[in-house]
Amino acid sequence: MGQTYFPVDRFRNASTPLYYYDLHLLEATLDEVKACSSFPGYHVHYAVKANANQEILRHIAAAGLGADTVSLGEIKAALGAGFPAPKIVFAGVGKTDEEISMALELGIGCFNVESEAELRAIVAIAEKMGKKAPVALRVNPEIDAHTHHYITTGLAENKFGIALTMLDILLDDCFKSEWIDFRGLHFHIGSQITDLEPYRILCERINGLQAKYPDIVIPSINVGGGLGVDYDDPEGNPIPDFKGYFKVFKENLQLRPGQELHFELGRAIVAQCGSLICKVVYVKEGVGKKFVILDGGMTALIRPALYQAHHKIENITSKSEEMEKYDVVGPICESSDVFGIEEVLPETKRGDLIALRSAGAYGEAMASCYNCRALPEALFSR
Ligand code: LLP
Repeated sequence: MGQTYFPVDRFRNASTPLYYYDLHLLEATLDEVKACSSFPGYHVHYAVKANANQEILRHIAAAGLGADTVSLGEIKAALGAGFPAPKIVFAGVGKTDEEISMALELGIGCFNVESEAELRAIVAIAEKMGKKAPVALRVNPEIDAHTHHYITTGLAENKFGIALTMLDILLDDCFKSEWIDFRGLHFHIGSQITDLEPYRILCERINGLQAKYPDIVIPSINVGGGLGVDYDDPEGNPIPDFKGYFKVFKENLQLRPGQELHFELGRAIVAQCGSLICKVVYVKEGVGKKFVILDGGMTALIRPALYQAHHKIENITSKSEEMEKYDVVGPICESSDVFGIEEVLPETKRGDLIALRSAGAYGEAMASCYNCRALPEALFSR
């Protein structure tokens, strides 16, 4: 399948490893997101951290989505790609004074505030600049998203968000300060969530909170991101179940009249359109096994090493009918630089091209130069 999907000749003329992005799939995914979220007051922000490649960002901005950012660098990347400042939200537990003042200056849509200390810093900077800061409070809803512990964010033990027990105080602070324009409540329970039940529980939690504060004007609710993708079958399920996802909120969340509902999807929008393309440097005979050693490894796609994630591996050039088992590894000097154990692939030779699928999210964005390796370039479908 991969052999017809990928423009192998173009890869042969390029230097590997490289990220390949299928812009047609990205467009189809964006169309589906828009179609499934076209309810009054619904706004989707793209989580830039998933992939900040300018070409990718330009497509997403052109589709009319907003941007969810976590650093001044991401804000600049979003602005550069055409996201209007008022459609940019700024989250993160460690916003510096410089980032806060620049974001205020640039006129971003909202700060998602994660602590009392941060709120105080924003008030002080806003006062000094004589500019009211739009603020939403990120609440830690204490919900288990049943995902990898590194990407679960909504538990009491996580560093993210404001504890439910402290919310009263912070709401009070927001309304007491003339430098805060209170925009609403923000939540995010984790990433790569494939069972929608935690989202239904989140809706219930939010309904309870809204009932607890009947007299407080809450212009918007932001439910974060986290919708997962099918890493095992990227071709069978190239577009995630956006319909089911938005339906959970439509059916379970009781919005107030005129209240906006914001989403921050990253992975679900970009994961499947990207692949990491590597060349086989050697096929090495080990003790009782064969290794396929690639020219790209964990510096180009860290998810397997960091989260024990598995990306589908395809040999996109072998013409052999013989299937064999290989451990597929990268060239980095770390034992965790492994993409797959006992992968069944057609007979693989030095020079073959290998695709690691679903690498569009948290692939290029998390790349490093460890071992003094150059960052891979990106190639786009025509
Ligand atoms: N909103 C907030 C506040 C977040 O922290 C995140 C992701 C998102 C939205 C977007 O989540 P998404 O829709 O992409 O799941 N590097 C990890 C994922 C880390 C996610 C961090 N926060 C991975 O490769 O699995």
